[in-house]
Amino acid sequence: MKIEIRDSYGAISKRAANLVAREIVVKEKPVLGLPTGDTPKRMYDILVNYYEEGLLDFSEVRTFNLDEYYPISGNDPRSFNKYMEDRLFEGVNIKNKNSHIFNGEVEEKKIEPHCRGYERKIADAGGIDLIVLGIGENGHIGFNEPGARFDTVSRVVELSKDTIEENFEDPGTAPERAITMGIKTITQSRKILLLASGEQKARAIKEATTGPVTREWPASVLQLHPDVTFLLDKGAGKGLDLDTGEEI
Ligand code: GLP
Repeated sequence: MKIEIRDSYGAISKRAANLVAREIVVKEKPVLGLPTGDTPKRMYDILVNYYEEGLLDFSEVRTFNLDEYYPISGNDPRSFNKYMEDRLFEGVNIKNKNSHIFNGEVEEKKIEPHCRGYERKIADAGGIDLIVLGIGENGHIGFNEPGARFDTVSRVVELSKDTIEENFEDPGTAPERAITMGIKTITQSRKILLLASGEQKARAIKEATTGPVTREWPASVLQLHPDVTFLLDKGAGKGLDLDTGEEI
């Protein structure tokens, strides 16, 4: 496991964008796993800038997003489909057929085949080369909430009360479920990059990196992965007592 602590949110965003850009430059048909949330916003801005400057070509890039709320309309500003359109897909030359994200509008009885199809598409693409993750304050990755089994694949899940309160301004009107990649799906990726910013993530980061491997802190499963980097700003790394770039 590698832990990199940088001075600021801007610095981790640039570093994350560069690691993603590298994957796009060196792989013929790069397969990326992508997150949403506030943390990766600037990373996406930088990637779009690189594209605009002619530094990156997304025409052979395949992407698989981690999760989506359920049920939710793709036009709902709170949906991750809308987020990805606005923040990345519209800004670069990725092909529609190559950007995958769960459909928050799929009929209830079709959720299971939808999830099976998603797993199949990842496998058909040859697996994920690099997956970028955020982390919830309760240690969730994707929407794998505390208690999730490590052998889970894509499925519909109940959101915890904490997550709903953290993620929505008006929790009363929020969707109570989500469709998410499972912990197994995530950890099958060849490389994992987890981004965290701000002191409110410090506890989850400490548990994930130095605590026991436990279902109570889902991100602690990453300790089992052979190629994982935690990229943290000073706030998120506060509990760790490590210098920049130190490996444990
Ligand atoms: C949501 C997503 C997670 C993400 C988390 C953190 O719950 N399902 O994948 O990591 O938010 O979001 P933020 O970056 O806004 O703190």
